[in-house]
Amino acid sequence: MPEPKIQNPKSKIAATPPAATGLGYITSTLAAPVSPAEAALRPLSFGDFTGQLKTVERLQVMVGAAKKRGEPLNHILLAGPPGLGKTTLAFILGHELGKNVRVTSGPVVEKAGDLAGLLTNLEEGDILFIDEIHRIPKTVEEYLYSAMEDFRLDIMIDQGPNARSVRLTIPRFTLVGATTRAGLLTAPLRSRFTLQTRLDYYDHATLKGIVHRSCGLLGVPVEDEGAHEIATRSRGTPRIANNLINFCRDYAQERAKGKITRPVAADALELLEIDARGLDEMDKRMLRIMAENYRGGPVGMSTIAVAVGEEAETLEEVHEPFLIQEGYLQRTPQGRALTAKGYAAIGLKPAPGDGQGALL
Ligand SMILES: Nc1ncnc2c1ncn2[C@@H]1O[C@H](COP(=O)(O)OP(=O)(O)OP(=O)(O)O)[C@@H](O)[C@H]1O
Ligand SMILES: [Mg+2]
Repeated sequence: MPEPKIQNPKSKIAATPPAATGLGYITSTLAAPVSPAEAALRPLSFGDFTGQLKTVERLQVMVGAAKKRGEPLNHILLAGPPGLGKTTLAFILGHELGKNVRVTSGPVVEKAGDLAGLLTNLEEGDILFIDEIHRIPKTVEEYLYSAMEDFRLDIMIDQGPNARSVRLTIPRFTLVGATTRAGLLTAPLRSRFTLQTRLDYYDHATLKGIVHRSCGLLGVPVEDEGAHEIATRSRGTPRIANNLINFCRDYAQERAKGKITRPVAADALELLEIDARGLDEMDKRMLRIMAENYRGGPVGMSTIAVAVGEEAETLEEVHEPFLIQEGYLQRTPQGRALTAKGYAAIGLKPAPGDGQGALL
């Protein structure tokens, strides 16, 4: 049996040519694989993990009950935009249960044999974390059904007249799936998760707390107003906040007295072309192109993607959720449409008749 390939959660997005990802700081931050420095900032227990109150409470209930019954946890699906803590929560589950977490990602599990390799190496109660689970090949997905339900795999070996099926019994494990695109999951796969829970962008106060926590762990001097400024520009995403802290620290050291104050944070983030609302160059290019070339839309994402020179998938996963959540964009059956707030963000006003298509 071939060795299963593990770790490489971002294989597909990271494969985007540098010319395309070099544009926006936000895009490159969210599409890059997690660095060891970043992983060191991960909270390890529920007590250390702030925000996402509903999701955390649901998980705590499940963990508590599973521990009392001495049974493995039921399967869990974590959905939500990049950088909000899906991987972090999967490790927290392992930590709280005292079980191992094996990590893989949808596109990496290419064949049923890869899946068999991963599953048969687990111990009772272990967690298999499949990142980007919506990208798991359909052929493998079908094997996952019986693994999740009956803890067995019927694998076909050999071909032609010698073909026969071998049944593998697997330890009772917990599948934790993460996805940035819950809508792309098939109904049969989705229905096999006992809990499906969605992570949302963090509110400002929680994010500011996370900035203080990370600065504390990194030993970076920060004023409360500096943390406030970083939180304001982190678009509700801890992963962005942590990355911005690093740049602000460098900036503070090189251009100021080493402490992240409000002006230091603002200047540093201006240099990264992240504005006071957390929008970066790529966000603004999208908005500008929609306003200038398509009269505010509606326009399809693939058209926008070609126009800005980025992959539609990246725009949909990384940029669009935030732009919609903050009310800059709107999704319509005909495509994406710019809102009045979207026009304002790029210093324009809708011309008479613009965006009419969105109203039809
Ligand atoms: N609630 C939180 N409190 C403190 N830090 C957090 C929290 N959530 C996430 N982080 C930080 O944000 C970083 C990104 O989180 P994580 O890698 O879990 O996101 P993700 O949802 O798996 O993203 P992706 O979809 O890109 O894989 C982590 O390194 C962690 O330090
Ligand atoms: Mg992750």
